[in-house]
Amino acid sequence: MSFFFRTIVLLFSTSCFCNIFASLTQDSCHPDQRDVLLEFKNEFKIRNPNGFLDIDGVLMDVTSYQKTKSWTNNSDCCYWDGITCDTKSGTVTGLDLSCSCLHGRLEPNSSLFRLQHLQSVNLAYNNFIHSPIPAEFSKFMRLERLNLSRSSFSGHIPIQLLHLTNLVSLDLTSSFPYSPSSLSIEKPLFVHLLALNFMNLRELDMSSVDISSSFPNEFSYMWSLRSLTLKGCNLLGIFPKNVLLIPNLESISLDNNLNLGGSLPNFLKNNSLLKLSIYNTSFSGNIPDSISNLKHLTSLKLQQSSFSGRISSSLGNLSHLSYLVLSQNKFVGEIQSSFGNLKLLTHFDVCDNYLNGNFPSSLLNLTQLRYINICSNHFTGFLPATISQLSKLEFFSLCDNSFIGSIPSSLFKISSLTTLGLNYNQLSDITNIRNISLLHNLQRLFLDNNNFKVSQVELDVFSSLKRLVSLSLSGIPLSTYNTTYDAEFSSHLEYLELSSCNIIDFPEFIRNQRNLSSIDLSNNKIKGQVPDWLWRLPELSTLDLSNNSLIGFKGSLKDLNGSKIVMLDLSSNAFQGPLFMPPRFIRYFLGADNNFTGDIPQSICGLANPLILDLSNNNLHGLIPWCLETQMSSLSVLNLRNNSLNGSLPNIFMNAKVLSSLDVSHNTLEGKLPASLTSCFALEILNLESNKINDTFPFWLNSLPRLQVLVLRYNNFHGTLHNVDGIWFGFPLLRIIDVSHNDFVGTLPSDYFMNWTAISKSDTELHYIGDPKDYGYYTSLVLMNKGVSMEMQRFLTKYTVIDFAGNQIRGQIPESVGILKELHVLNLSSNTFTGHIPSSLANLTNLESLDLSQNKITGEIPPDLGSLSSLEWINVSHNHLVGSIPQGTQFQRQDCSSYKGNPGLYGPSLKDVCGYIHAHCLI
Ligand SMILES: *[C@@H]1O[C@H](CO)[C@@H](O)[C@H](O)[C@H]1NC(C)=O
Ligand SMILES: *[C@@H]1O[C@H](CO)[C@@H](O)[C@H](O)[C@H]1NC(C)=O
Ligand SMILES: *[C@@H]1O[C@H](CO)[C@@H](O)[C@H](O)[C@H]1NC(C)=O
Ligand SMILES: *[C@@H]1O[C@H](CO)[C@@H](O)[C@H](O)[C@H]1NC(C)=O
Ligand SMILES: *[C@@H]1O[C@H](CO)[C@@H](O)[C@H](O)[C@H]1NC(C)=O
Ligand SMILES: *[C@@H]1O[C@H](CO)[C@@H](O)[C@H](O)[C@H]1NC(C)=O
Ligand SMILES: *[C@@H]1O[C@H](CO)[C@@H](O)[C@H](O)[C@H]1NC(C)=O
Repeated sequence: MSFFFRTIVLLFSTSCFCNIFASLTQDSCHPDQRDVLLEFKNEFKIRNPNGFLDIDGVLMDVTSYQKTKSWTNNSDCCYWDGITCDTKSGTVTGLDLSCSCLHGRLEPNSSLFRLQHLQSVNLAYNNFIHSPIPAEFSKFMRLERLNLSRSSFSGHIPIQLLHLTNLVSLDLTSSFPYSPSSLSIEKPLFVHLLALNFMNLRELDMSSVDISSSFPNEFSYMWSLRSLTLKGCNLLGIFPKNVLLIPNLESISLDNNLNLGGSLPNFLKNNSLLKLSIYNTSFSGNIPDSISNLKHLTSLKLQQSSFSGRISSSLGNLSHLSYLVLSQNKFVGEIQSSFGNLKLLTHFDVCDNYLNGNFPSSLLNLTQLRYINICSNHFTGFLPATISQLSKLEFFSLCDNSFIGSIPSSLFKISSLTTLGLNYNQLSDITNIRNISLLHNLQRLFLDNNNFKVSQVELDVFSSLKRLVSLSLSGIPLSTYNTTYDAEFSSHLEYLELSSCNIIDFPEFIRNQRNLSSIDLSNNKIKGQVPDWLWRLPELSTLDLSNNSLIGFKGSLKDLNGSKIVMLDLSSNAFQGPLFMPPRFIRYFLGADNNFTGDIPQSICGLANPLILDLSNNNLHGLIPWCLETQMSSLSVLNLRNNSLNGSLPNIFMNAKVLSSLDVSHNTLEGKLPASLTSCFALEILNLESNKINDTFPFWLNSLPRLQVLVLRYNNFHGTLHNVDGIWFGFPLLRIIDVSHNDFVGTLPSDYFMNWTAISKSDTELHYIGDPKDYGYYTSLVLMNKGVSMEMQRFLTKYTVIDFAGNQIRGQIPESVGILKELHVLNLSSNTFTGHIPSSLANLTNLESLDLSQNKITGEIPPDLGSLSSLEWINVSHNHLVGSIPQGTQFQRQDCSSYKGNPGLYGPSLKDVCGYIHAHCLI
């Protein structure tokens, strides 16, 4: 297991600029106004003064303080915090209680609405505990600024707000993005009217307000608009291009509207745009050359959308640009030399596109750069020797490209570097790695998965990096490394990846790394026992020891139970003896390919919410415990393959709603299938191979909407494969079905395959079946293909198999087989099929492997089959076929054993197939 380059999650702290000093006015407060304010103050409790604000369940470091504390009856209200008065009348015109820890409902009869003269109201960052926004705000006819953002309002935004036609600034950012509690609009009309009513509006922020409709073109007439922020509004349809062309607009954010399509317009000259942010949307198309008209642009963020084409070289004209993020799109081509003009650029991120060429040398003159991320592209060549010109660089990641050669020495001169990602490339020379100690600010270092071949690297090189948090050296053969080694590493170390490093002994230095939370020591040659101090590392949560030669555990495992471990991978070692109880809160427990013996302990049923349990290829005996029923509600993968488990598969799947893969193959299970399997709505893979299950075909499993793989091979299933009782046999997503080597009998009607939709329609979405959630776990599968059994570690949804071999099915091969256009493997061998080979087989243009051997098929091989160019392997031996073998090259390439045992088979091509010994072939 190796994690891909870790995304560094930054916790953004939102700073809330609270207006602490209200403008002082010379005259004193109107007593009425004072009393109203005091009343208003008393409508709320004060919560969390001077602390973090709990917003959307996220603690935000906002400077909040209790402004109403200064509100006392014996002082002048115009001098209270958050209050602005009109100098002449003494009426309150401004109220700013942002971040003031107010807690309670804002009621329609609140005294607030008696402050008729308010021109500015800011109640942001308080907690009005899901109360709706009162329509009474519309009474403030003079209101110019209204800020109700992130104050836990819920429900529809009252349409009456549209009466506030003097508004210049409106911020309704909802506290609860994507939740039923988020603010929403009642009808799409609201947004239309908003555009028409608020002709003076300069700033509009409705982020996280659920709009759920398209965005009206009327907005393009809001010529006063300076700032438009609509993040996460569930906008639909195509965004009107003209809105992006409003001449005075300075800032646009349409981020996180996944269903919002659109493209960039032809930008005009004389625009004011400073910030353009359209990320995590469905926007597509090119960056137009007219982007060069955005002369003032400082920030362009177009990541996580569907933009494509070459990155326009006219971007190089944006001389004020400091922030450029184009990651996770479909851009192609090279980075243009014009980028060398972006002298103010600090942030350059094009990761995860299809860019190619050498390292973009145009970046090397951009001395303000602090952040470069070009990961996951097709860049090649050597790393630039002059990289140290970028002396302010903090983040530099080139992962997952095809860079070759050595790490340039000048890289070690950039002492500001905190993150260096050179992983997943083809770098081969690491001789100068000792200089890494010059990078004394380095926190994250990823050198894994390159071609560093010789063992030149000593681990202590990295111990000088005292700020290191993440270190990944996987794939680098470490030299002179042994357990006596106990250098002091950075005490901050949290992630350590030393997979495939030729380590022989358990690294002793780990013992002192009190902050380690993730350790990967997989694919080494570590012998002996797992030390018990490991379980006492207080932060350890994921531990991968797979593919070593470990035999057991030193000392007691009692500390394991108190540990924070959620992922433990012990696969492919030599662990012996009874299975131990993993920590109660473990989510991934992988113990496959060892020699654990004895029963599956009942204590396993004490696990709180396991997600993946893999104990395959061990020596476990006895029954599958009934008590696992509880764990089934959280398990996504249960793999007990290849043990010696007996009894029947218990009826424990009532709550297995998230189970996606169940593999109990290669045991000695007997009896019938448990009825509760019908509850496994998420089941994609069911593998029961090589047991002694004695049941009829489970037609009733067609209630499983996601089943893609069904393997019943080598059991005692019996009865027909065709349900005569009326329930039609058609699993909508089934792609692999292997019922071979059972006792199925009967005939198949000619329309038998009519409803096998997944194998008849091509699926454009290619992915691996049983796609892992967050740990790279796949269920593997062994299937017959081209006459041999093949193990697949993981398989694409494209791969489709029908294997009915080794039963007693008789009658015609159904003509409807021709509908299975996506079929790759068809095996009907060793049955008693009669009749002709259906000519519709010629429709299966994806077929690679066809086995019809050992039947009683008569007639000729349909000549059209000769045109199936994908067909690599054919076996029709031991039938009663006659006539000529088709002309196609695929037929001529076969070994002559493919045709054996059909004395009536002859023809021109047979000579090519069997050469001069063809007489022998047909015996
Ligand atoms: C404030 O004090 C005045 C008298 O000084 C009193 O009439 C008024 O009711 C008080 N207001 C509140 C809200 O306590
Ligand atoms: C960097 O700047 C120098 C002079 O300012 C210029 O000669 C050189 O061509 C530039 N290099 C690149 C790669 O743009
Ligand atoms: C272990 O490492 C130390 C320090 O590098 C070295 O002196 C010693 O010879 C090594 N021992 C073995 C058995 O390799
Ligand atoms: C597995 O363990 C059992 C019992 O301890 C032992 O008899 C057997 O030889 C072991 N098998 C392997 C392959 O080590
Ligand atoms: C399957 O079970 C039936 C009874 O339910 C029994 O008659 C039959 O012999 C069993 N078949 C096998 C192969 O065990
Ligand atoms: C196919 O499915 C339809 C229902 O959608 C059913 O009426 C029909 O009998 C099925 N045909 C076969 C051959 O299973
Ligand atoms: C074979 O393909 C052709 C063209 O797609 C289609 O018309 C025909 O019905 C197919 N035959 C069968 C048996 O599905």
